[in-house]
Amino acid sequence: MTDLSDRILVQEHFAREHEPSKLNAEETAKLRDEIKDLLVQEDAALVAHYYTDPEIQSLAEETGGCVADSLEMARFGTSHPASTLIVCGVRFMGETAKILNPEKSVLMPTLEATCSLDIGCPEEEFSAFCDQHPDRTVVVYANTSAAVKARSDWVVTSSIALDIVEYLKDQNQKIIWAPDQHLGRYVQKQTGADVFLWDGSCIVHEEFKAKGLQDLKSVYPDAKVLVHPESPEAVVELADVVGSTSQLINAVANSDNQTFIVATDAGIFYKMQQAAPDKTLIEAPTAGNGATCRSCAHCPWMAMNGLENLRDVIVKKDQEITVDPEIREKALIPLQRMLDFSQQRRVAVKGNA
Ligand code: 13P
Ligand code: SF4
Repeated sequence: MTDLSDRILVQEHFAREHEPSKLNAEETAKLRDEIKDLLVQEDAALVAHYYTDPEIQSLAEETGGCVADSLEMARFGTSHPASTLIVCGVRFMGETAKILNPEKSVLMPTLEATCSLDIGCPEEEFSAFCDQHPDRTVVVYANTSAAVKARSDWVVTSSIALDIVEYLKDQNQKIIWAPDQHLGRYVQKQTGADVFLWDGSCIVHEEFKAKGLQDLKSVYPDAKVLVHPESPEAVVELADVVGSTSQLINAVANSDNQTFIVATDAGIFYKMQQAAPDKTLIEAPTAGNGATCRSCAHCPWMAMNGLENLRDVIVKKDQEITVDPEIREKALIPLQRMLDFSQQRRVAVKGNA
């Protein structure tokens, strides 16, 4: 076993050991009220990812915060007037918010919530890898540390990756892609770009299995299959729709289909069902069930965000994201490039409508 996969296992174990304890209805209601008051008092906004606990997602909705994919989470922080952003998700999301909003204080329920892609791409090794291929444009997925972003030319998220790589290919640029090999391979196949891949992966999406999915498809022949592109190639090949979390939610809301098999973190079901209450959503099969699967389609680091540690951080302000100013300055360039690119695309799409 490599050193990196050891490190992922250790952090994963830590996350499971520190999963928030289950709360009863009374405790939940009390904490929700407390958090609502504290947010107003502290001029703070909640920025939550779709994979977090539905209690956190609904609190973000009810308090004027946002529930979104990683691109929208980044954008939201830059346009919201709150002086404090409470990022409920994983560490790279908090770091992105801080890089884009250095004047704001950025807090997280726990700074220990990381991501296997981030752990699997340490800055020193990645930098050495890039140095070996100086002719290539460095494109990194948002699921990376601030230091890795600082070494890149472009940051992308899954909702804008295809557009950016297509654009780079049209400029005859050859690409280094890191860290998610499955998303990278998907982008390479779709665009035909010359892409050199880092070999990271997401421990949650890696568990979806093509064989199980095929079997489920034969039980529900009319179901549409929705797949996040961090899933293995054989799973992506069975998809009717491949896309970021937001794109998958939109696919359910905008499709005439009644039934969907969904291959991504189960946290997404809260928003998906809200967007299409009368539709049937089925979880895609993972490598096992109960004690036999590793993640069981739920990210152990997203699961570290709970109502208690959310309340605690607003009171104590102890889980604060900091980014070295020199790294921040460098990482801002590729991040801002992504946001500007996506903004131009939006304007162009609106203009053509
Ligand atoms: P999205 O940008 O599609 O929300 O993906 C983030 C992520 O971490 C998926 O595992
Ligand atoms: Fe990282 Fe996967 Fe968790 Fe997303 S689901 S944060 S890619 S480990």
